[in-house]
Amino acid sequence: MSPLNTTALRSSFPALTKNPNFIFGDNAGGSQILQASVDAVTDYLINTNIQMGSDYMPASTERCMKLAQGLAVKMFNAKSADEIVFGGSSTQNVENLARGLEGSVKEGDEIIVTWEHEANCGPWKSLAARTGATIKYWEPTLLNSKNPFSYSLDPLNLIPLITSRTRLLAFTACSNILGSILPIASIVSSARTAAASAGSPLFEVCLDCVAYAPHRRIDVQAWDVDYCIMSFYKVYGPHVGAMYVRHQQLTSSVSSIVHHFLSPEDDRIGYKLQPAGPGYESVWGTTAVVPYLEGLTEEGTLEAASEAMSAHDAELAGMLLEFLTEERQWKRGVRVVGEEKAGPDRMPTVSFVVGEGEDGEKAMKSRTVVKGFDKKGKIGIRYGHFYAFTLVSAVKPDDPSDGVVRISFVHYNTKEEVQSAIDTLKEVLYAA
Ligand SMILES: Cc1ncc(COP(=O)(O)O)c(C=O)c1O
Repeated sequence: MSPLNTTALRSSFPALTKNPNFIFGDNAGGSQILQASVDAVTDYLINTNIQMGSDYMPASTERCMKLAQGLAVKMFNAKSADEIVFGGSSTQNVENLARGLEGSVKEGDEIIVTWEHEANCGPWKSLAARTGATIKYWEPTLLNSKNPFSYSLDPLNLIPLITSRTRLLAFTACSNILGSILPIASIVSSARTAAASAGSPLFEVCLDCVAYAPHRRIDVQAWDVDYCIMSFYKVYGPHVGAMYVRHQQLTSSVSSIVHHFLSPEDDRIGYKLQPAGPGYESVWGTTAVVPYLEGLTEEGTLEAASEAMSAHDAELAGMLLEFLTEERQWKRGVRVVGEEKAGPDRMPTVSFVVGEGEDGEKAMKSRTVVKGFDKKGKIGIRYGHFYAFTLVSAVKPDDPSDGVVRISFVHYNTKEEVQSAIDTLKEVLYAA
């Protein structure tokens, strides 16, 4: 696998070129956009800005949408374009899906969710409230008994939750707070085995790949998931979400959420799960993403890009984690939220809190740490619960909105940028 050429690839992003001295460190919130995506959005609006089904201009919106779906098929490694739907955001897509599944979820069914981002929890909780289904939580455990925030999801704790009533498992491939990738294929496989042996008549899996997709290759077929979401605005494209729905589920479980005139067997995913058109220009803007990722390495594949990003990610995460877990920072009261060690499955999305120090240093609010960065004006990072409200409420029960400080890098960030973030953090932590 050829390594990433970070210097060269940065020129594909106008915001990085325009702001060479600014460090974008909130990429889990949203990445910078490719020039090619901006061009595609403009191209659509100038050359193809007509509604679906119109024939009065030579350019066709149908053709654009089919091409965009085709590239999203690659992104998910789905089987066909009929399995892809676009929507304003991933949260909206899961809410639409939950409404589409309303007819096939019954009172007494059980839905397992995590403490992660509400996008793949909230819609299921609302669905349970509407149908009389029960919500069960797959809760994280601690990796380091000395660090009360070293949360991680242990697959072994999932299996006892599965019963004959389990209808759906909704989990997150990579936490937007904890930054660790879960062993997706083995989780899904053992959950399916447990559901089958418990006698569950219908068990489905909805996977959140929003924080995972900017870093690694999605593979819905290898993982055997039924539903999967990702958001292009975090994967170097415009603000639009894409959702995979396995074709079989489309005709067996999912009903149309708006159009009463569709038969249950109708397999037109857009009609079933997309109330009116998505922003076509944004959807067309997503078509730049797959070619960009394929061009990242000499091999020219998404798999090779994923491997190259993984190696780069491990270096960046290693630098941040090494600093945050140094004895000096531990004594200062710094605690990593999540896995404290770097490794192939640890992304450079790193969260932490600052408690009281051993030598009487005061605890710091997360907003104070971020304010210190903002004052310097050179690195953009953020604090808060980042919509993983349940998880962050466990870290800061008295003030979840202050939450955690999160620094989040992607493949276009450099080691020098990470070092600069570490230097700034040193100044902020020891300013008083
Ligand atoms: C892990 C995770 N899931 C879901 C979402 C929601 O995505 P969207 O903003 O497209 O609804 C986010 C957004 O931050 C996220 O980080």
